[in-house]
Amino acid sequence: MKKLFIETLGCAMNSRDSEHIIAQLREKDNYETTDDLKDADLILINTCSVREKPVSKLFSELGIFNKKKKVDAKIGVCGCTASHLGDEIIKRAPYVNFVLGARNVSKISEVLHKDKAVEVDINYDESEFAFDDFRTSTYKAFINISMGCDKSCTYCIVPKTRGDEISIPIDLIIREASRAVDGGAKEIFLLGQNVNNYGRRFSGDREKVNFTKLLQELSKIKELQRIRFTSPHPFHMDDEFIEEFAKNPKICKSMHMPLQSGSTKVLKDMKRGYSKEWFLNRVKKLRQECPDVSISTDVIVAFPGESDEDFEDTLDVINQVRFNQIFSFKYSPRPQTQAEHFTNTVDADIASTRLTRLQNIHTDILDEINATSLGKTYRVYFENLIQDYYVSGRSDENIVIKVKGSDELLGEFRDVKITSIGRTILTGEIVA
Ligand code: 5AD
Ligand code: SF4
Repeated sequence: MKKLFIETLGCAMNSRDSEHIIAQLREKDNYETTDDLKDADLILINTCSVREKPVSKLFSELGIFNKKKKVDAKIGVCGCTASHLGDEIIKRAPYVNFVLGARNVSKISEVLHKDKAVEVDINYDESEFAFDDFRTSTYKAFINISMGCDKSCTYCIVPKTRGDEISIPIDLIIREASRAVDGGAKEIFLLGQNVNNYGRRFSGDREKVNFTKLLQELSKIKELQRIRFTSPHPFHMDDEFIEEFAKNPKICKSMHMPLQSGSTKVLKDMKRGYSKEWFLNRVKKLRQECPDVSISTDVIVAFPGESDEDFEDTLDVINQVRFNQIFSFKYSPRPQTQAEHFTNTVDADIASTRLTRLQNIHTDILDEINATSLGKTYRVYFENLIQDYYVSGRSDENIVIKVKGSDELLGEFRDVKITSIGRTILTGEIVA
């Protein structure tokens, strides 16, 4: 068998795309994966372009890979940066053999056999493509439910790299989930740029099905115990969706609610489609229906035009909601977005100060939240073996918890009582 070295950057969708790439290459071209770059016959970087940093890193990394690789090994660039830079990648790094966009994953075998192929059509429809089967984890199955995004958030490059939104037909999703469950997965993780907009558009004539209905249908798979998903959009969090989330026992009680900003003015400039009040109202409804829910979020600081008062509004939401996890970023101008042309930019040092302040406030909140976990018992699904004979997994609320144990625990549920607290991982002992 030939050897494939693949590096995956970015989000969970990219991880699933990499699994699809590996699956196709195994079946069609006789590849197996390797962690050793020097041993590889094919080197792939599955890129992210959501912020500028990973893009500039790409070219330095390509240079290093080119120096270290076997003489006749091929290099391919896949993913979102491939979509938006296209043949420019080969112009800047002529040793790259092919470029494959985030919307063209199914064409991996085709581009592999054509030198200097550039396949980056963001209108390409692979929503009904039957990928071969490959999963990195047998315990948790990532499943795409839609591709692309129909929103036009002014900071975001994704609609330009993953194209218009198209949903995968419900029968294909159910078939994939059932197959994963038959293979031992007790948890599925549904993926899309905007999952609760599911059903907006299908390829061909199909019955309209929304996300709530999809969740209900998936819950009928008997051996399936847990459903997670990311990312929902606060704008589409209607009562019906929140009520299904709360009452369906198979849906994990952890919700990602990307805030981006707490200022209604900035949200308008970002074209997010909701206000500070709407966001807080949805959190209130969610907590009313589901008091134990844990909520995570994404925040961008220093978006063009963000004043001190706007930033205080963001901190106000953070203090009111007390998120369980925050992914926070400084605004990074991206090509082909509307905000790229906004001139009222925020100074870099102000941006850094704001980010640090936000992160410090969140860390204090998190320490307080974590302290309340001591002595509590959580139902944990074990997924990973870690060093020193520990096994880790996640609670329903998505808290990462480790216990002393061996691989016999993998794929099993246990009740775990928390005995010590860390910022990213809690430690406990099995009680049942
Ligand atoms: N600058 C900074 N952060 C961004 N994100 C998306 N686009 C940008 C950008 N131009 C963040 C958002 C999104 C997360 C995946 O990345 O918070 O939710
Ligand atoms: Fe994922 Fe967005 Fe990065 Fe593409 S740009 S890999 S969709 S986070």
